[in-house]
Amino acid sequence: MTTRRFPAQLACSRCDATFPIRELMNLCPHDGAPLLVRYDIAKSPELRDEIRSRPATMWRYRELLPADDESEIVTLGEGITPLLQSKNFDNVWLKDESKNPTRSFKSRGMAAAVTMAKRLGARSLAAPTAGNAGAALSAYGARAGLPVFVAMPRDTPQSIVDECRGYGAQVELVAGVITDAGKRVAQYIAENGGFDLSTLKEPYRVEGKKIMGYELLEDLGRLPDVILYPTGGGTGLIGMWKAFNEMERLGWIGSERPRMFSVQSNGCAPVVRAFNEGLETAPEWESPQTGAWGLRVPRAIGDRLMLRALRDSHGGAIAVDEAQIETAAAELRTSEGIDAGPEAGAALLALRTLRAEGTIRNDEAVVLFSTGGNKYH
Ligand SMILES: Cc1ncc(COP(=O)(O)O)c(C=O)c1O
Repeated sequence: MTTRRFPAQLACSRCDATFPIRELMNLCPHDGAPLLVRYDIAKSPELRDEIRSRPATMWRYRELLPADDESEIVTLGEGITPLLQSKNFDNVWLKDESKNPTRSFKSRGMAAAVTMAKRLGARSLAAPTAGNAGAALSAYGARAGLPVFVAMPRDTPQSIVDECRGYGAQVELVAGVITDAGKRVAQYIAENGGFDLSTLKEPYRVEGKKIMGYELLEDLGRLPDVILYPTGGGTGLIGMWKAFNEMERLGWIGSERPRMFSVQSNGCAPVVRAFNEGLETAPEWESPQTGAWGLRVPRAIGDRLMLRALRDSHGGAIAVDEAQIETAAAELRTSEGIDAGPEAGAALLALRTLRAEGTIRNDEAVVLFSTGGNKYH
């Protein structure tokens, strides 16, 4: 069945170049910046209720996602995850992303990206990963019937390596961190072909992740005052910020926006440092070290977009103590009953600090993203 999607094209996030959605594209050919999908959105207040009445996957938002035909969607039932009221903190909600098919929010981005890669003719798929993105790509590649190559740092937990291989992906372990794995993917593609699905090096992972922003409105009936987002490459942060803009054009919200906070470990905090120093981009973090593997991203290609969203939202960026992250994650598991990984633990530490110092008031509604399950063992 053909989807009544709003007309869409690709637009460079830096220059004014636009491109039809017709062929596989990575970065803007003019300036190397990320491409984003731009929809020609008409005010549609009625669509909000219609969407809510559909089956509970992120594809219920199909007018705002890039697939043209329902039959081409590669899905494992991702999205529409629980938004749980915290048992321990007033005015705090936990977005439990472990309930996605590969136990992290990476499922959302890969569902959209693999759908589009397949539709536009990719014969094989590749990406570097800090862990969960590789697992998600492996699963969605299997679902799409496309071979997958994943490169990841040598010290990535064995459970993630096994998960990717379990879905049939070819896994290569490389010395260094995710940026080194990214170089290996580029080399692999140059030699063997395949489409590169690195974070923000293709336009559609953001589209899948942005639906988290729509779900917040669906669940709360309004947007929260504050979002705490454990940040690596920043796809979800950038995506949700984009979603809020789309929601305003749809006539679903006004100009109000949540304050967005990026949370990183003090063992790898390039976005926090750049935010605090007033920079527009985030220079590489030397010797990144954190057991919150999803946050071990020393340099992000979406740095400019992230920093702009944090500032435009009047939010901020905070580095938490690496030594306390695992204990905080365990606290979420044992006192809230959710399958929380260390990235969520980092967000909990940020909540405590930001509330204690008065940056977040107790009467402000906070959504804490628990971005993935306890998968690293
Ligand atoms: C569980 C988890 N949380 C957070 C992140 C960071 O996500 P993003 O790249 O959207 O900043 C990752 C990325 O690997 C992750 O796996």
